Amino acid sequence: METKTNYQQLVRELNYHFNLYHVQDAPVISDAEYDKLYNELKRIESAHPDWVTPDSPSQRAGPKAADRFDKVRHPAPILSLANAFGAEDARAWLERVTKIDDRVEKAKFIVEPKIDGLSVVLHYRDGVFVQGATRGDGDVGEDITGNLRTVRAIPLRIPVQMSKVESQKSATFDLRPPTYLVVRGEAYIPIKDFEELNRKLEEAGEKTYMNPRNSAAGSLRQLDPKLTASRPITLLVYQIIHAEGGTVPTSQWEILQYLKSLGFPVTDVARRFDDLESAIAYTETWDKKRDDLPYEADGMVIKIDDLTLAAELGFVGKDPRGAIAFKFPAREVTTTLLGIDVEVGRTGVLTPKAVLEAVEINGVIVKNATLHNFDYISEKDIRVGDRVLVKRAGEVIPYVIGPVVDARAGKEKTYQPPSVCPACGQAVEHFEGEVAWYCVNAACPAQLVRNVEHFVSRGAMDIVGMGTKIVEKLIEAGKVRDVADIFTLTREDILESVTKKDRKTEKEPPGKLADNLLAAIAESAKKPLNRLIAALGIHGVGEVSAADLAGHFGNLDALSTASPDDLQQIEGIGPNIAEGIVDWFGREANQKILKKLKAAGVWPTFNVERSTLNVSLAGQTFVITGTLPTWSRDDAKEFIESNGGKVTDSVSKKTSYLVLGENPGSKLEKAKSLGVKIIGEEELRNLVA
Ligand code: IVH
Repeated sequence: METKTNYQQLVRELNYHFNLYHVQDAPVISDAEYDKLYNELKRIESAHPDWVTPDSPSQRAGPKAADRFDKVRHPAPILSLANAFGAEDARAWLERVTKIDDRVEKAKFIVEPKIDGLSVVLHYRDGVFVQGATRGDGDVGEDITGNLRTVRAIPLRIPVQMSKVESQKSATFDLRPPTYLVVRGEAYIPIKDFEELNRKLEEAGEKTYMNPRNSAAGSLRQLDPKLTASRPITLLVYQIIHAEGGTVPTSQWEILQYLKSLGFPVTDVARRFDDLESAIAYTETWDKKRDDLPYEADGMVIKIDDLTLAAELGFVGKDPRGAIAFKFPAREVTTTLLGIDVEVGRTGVLTPKAVLEAVEINGVIVKNATLHNFDYISEKDIRVGDRVLVKRAGEVIPYVIGPVVDARAGKEKTYQPPSVCPACGQAVEHFEGEVAWYCVNAACPAQLVRNVEHFVSRGAMDIVGMGTKIVEKLIEAGKVRDVADIFTLTREDILESVTKKDRKTEKEPPGKLADNLLAAIAESAKKPLNRLIAALGIHGVGEVSAADLAGHFGNLDALSTASPDDLQQIEGIGPNIAEGIVDWFGREANQKILKKLKAAGVWPTFNVERSTLNVSLAGQTFVITGTLPTWSRDDAKEFIESNGGKVTDSVSKKTSYLVLGENPGSKLEKAKSLGVKIIGEEELRNLVA
């Protein structure tokens, strides 16, 4: 017989597994088992609709859109934070508060990530999630309960009366959980999910979001819970705003553990320190590693651990004195878009480049930024003269995120892509299904410059001293019409093309530059086959596949007659690269180049310089999890890739190694269950040494 008690038991069981899966990342039953329980729940609920409780997992997908948000008065002010821009500011903060209360001298400090999301306030009565609100003005927020209910990381029920087992498990909290509890957290969309969401929106022809913060706020502050449910929103909880009918810890460190024990998602990056200097040092390590965080963080929050002391310090306006936001240097700034330049790439692709009013981002002066392609400009409605938001993060080239529409004065001009190539004047072309516009003129000087630049670059034929300026001069003077001409240049050719200004120093004798260049060219003519193949600039052929091709074919004659099938015999050469190779050798202009190279004696038959090519991890796939002792994730990725290995996001049977750091995610379990080899940072280094 089904009874209401059985049903309630089932709700609890499902909520327990739901939390293990979505919050702790450590499920104990399979998805299929969960589905079975859930179907049973749905069956009972349709037979007994009056039994349905608000914490049932079936109540997550909000039923209908509202037409407005109700107002919610917060039980206590939802405070903000004062900022510190660097260690000096943080020290000054401590000095100020120590003057107010000398107990601060002995204070401990908690450092937590400052997530750039949307502050939310969650109410639990008798353990059931009953209301959720935005911060609003700090006193009154908007009721977004229906939307928040769909966020899987938010528990719909938390324990009020702990069972024996539960209270044993959390022996540290010998506290009676409050019957009315209000907690605060930061709702956000992880960076990866944000990128994926924007991709999907773009595909569907919808407006994309500027950044993860906007997308989280936009997804929660709209009236249809179904839309919220479809968005990858999650959250981390860090504060108790109000508690009645029970007791809660009085230190921030314990609050975090306590919230975790109640089933809330809590950061695992937080640490406790005995003095401010150690807290600052930890904060600064995250400044360098911020790209390793799965969410956008604009700093770290340093909090006095003793919450009674912190509260007694009071606040200034809306900023409590007991905590400070230690901001990371900004990565997004606004500046004016002065114009749009068009560059012609090696393959003839035209790319728009933003010319910006110079602006400093993170210590670097930025004057140019990527605009991706012409469609991007029109989709984002970026106009010349606009104030634009520009981002520069890590190794990424700065790019224009979008216009600040509210800052328009009316004089901004819509941009028209060029109809002719800016370098040679020939009409540009567009290929079906591709975004890019091309200059298809094989003799276009701009393309030739890029081609030659690539040919002489360090990873290719490595002609020392042949920089862009000299390449341009030689092409302008008509001495270099294709890459093969480099090897028949004479001393006179160089002297005629290169002027006094182009020399390194005015004092350098005119012939010296020419002699050095000729020597470098002669040196490069002896480079092995893999270098020459990489230098040709065949679409999709980089240093690693060039080495594979050289090793397999042994000379250019054999490679130039290979069929797509022959090529695909080689591991790592897929149909697209194979097609690119066949296409390259099929072009008449390229055959002419090959003939000239052969005639000039640049026809290496010795294969690969294994010693300088880092391919020791070739064919191996790596997954990285957790925080590594000395490397950031990007460091590790770069190390693996520069040694020929591949890095992927998820563990599968094909994974060769899991690189394990501190606080690993669920990938560790998966790797163990699949028998994937598990190594640390040190062992990773040893793989190459
Ligand atoms: S503490 C007294 N902790 O940053 C408590 N805030 O610039 C004051 N935020 O409005 C807030 N992560 O929305 C705190 N770990 C964290 C946070 C955090 C993000 C947000 C919060 C606040 C804003 C202040």
